[in-house]
Amino acid sequence: MKVRKAVVVAAGLGTRMLPATRVIPKEILPVVDRPAIQIVVEEAVASGIEEIVIVVAPGRSLVLDHFAPVADLERHLEERGKHDLLAVVRSTGTMARITRAHQHQPLGLGHAVLQARAAIGDEPFAVMLPDDIFDSERPCLRQLLDVAEAREAPVVALMRVAPQDISKYGIVEAAPAGERLYRLTGMVEKPEPSKAPSDFAIVGRYVLTPDIFTLLAEGKPGAGGEIQLTDGLLALSRRRPMYGCEFIGTRYDLGDRFGLMTAQIGFGLKRPDLADRLRAYLRTVISA
Ligand code: G1P
Repeated sequence: MKVRKAVVVAAGLGTRMLPATRVIPKEILPVVDRPAIQIVVEEAVASGIEEIVIVVAPGRSLVLDHFAPVADLERHLEERGKHDLLAVVRSTGTMARITRAHQHQPLGLGHAVLQARAAIGDEPFAVMLPDDIFDSERPCLRQLLDVAEAREAPVVALMRVAPQDISKYGIVEAAPAGERLYRLTGMVEKPEPSKAPSDFAIVGRYVLTPDIFTLLAEGKPGAGGEIQLTDGLLALSRRRPMYGCEFIGTRYDLGDRFGLMTAQIGFGLKRPDLADRLRAYLRTVISA
């Protein structure tokens, strides 16, 4: 299975991060100095993806502008001989082939993915949720693609979660199938902890086959009255073997205030230009 394209869903209203997201889409909120959307696009490119379809809500296309050329800024930097910054600005504009799809009504994640159907066509593809960002040696999506290519099957990223967090996620029923690998036998979106089949949550990286589109188009509203991707995945898992990969790395939930704060610290501590000062600062505030 060769996966060339990824769908990045950036169509949510970001209500969990208000008031920051009143005007700015949550995918533009920066982690250190990179917007979440850029971190995700960089992960896709590092995983071998060639084309990225970003699904946006109408009037919320700032995420796409982030990758467009900015002639004024480039001229300004060029005139002042700021070549390092110029390279940064230019590389953001050329890092991937990016196209857009629109979700005109907020009818759920499954519905958002379905809006990319024409752009994806009849080939396997990745889905990436920019609320979830990963700090890992091997990009999280690449870890999934390794499995998808070896097994010729769809794969989702899995992470164990605490009991009190189970109702925030799609939760899978899974049977061991290899190292950090599970065959998926069932899944349910945002279950009550007492009814959850496991503590294994799906987090925002998926490798899917195009037959998911028909299943999503036929899908009925599920949890929260929305067309859920998880319901489409369950239908897909009944048609063909499907796997979960317990990725290696740290995941941050940027849709959540605490997750955004810990991401700043986690990513900041990985930056050679900031790590020492940040570590020293954290020590002083913790001991104060
Ligand atoms: C979505 C999916 C859910 C998944 C989660 C991962 O939920 O519907 O299955 O576990 O992303 O972040 P949301 O966070 O959009 O409510």
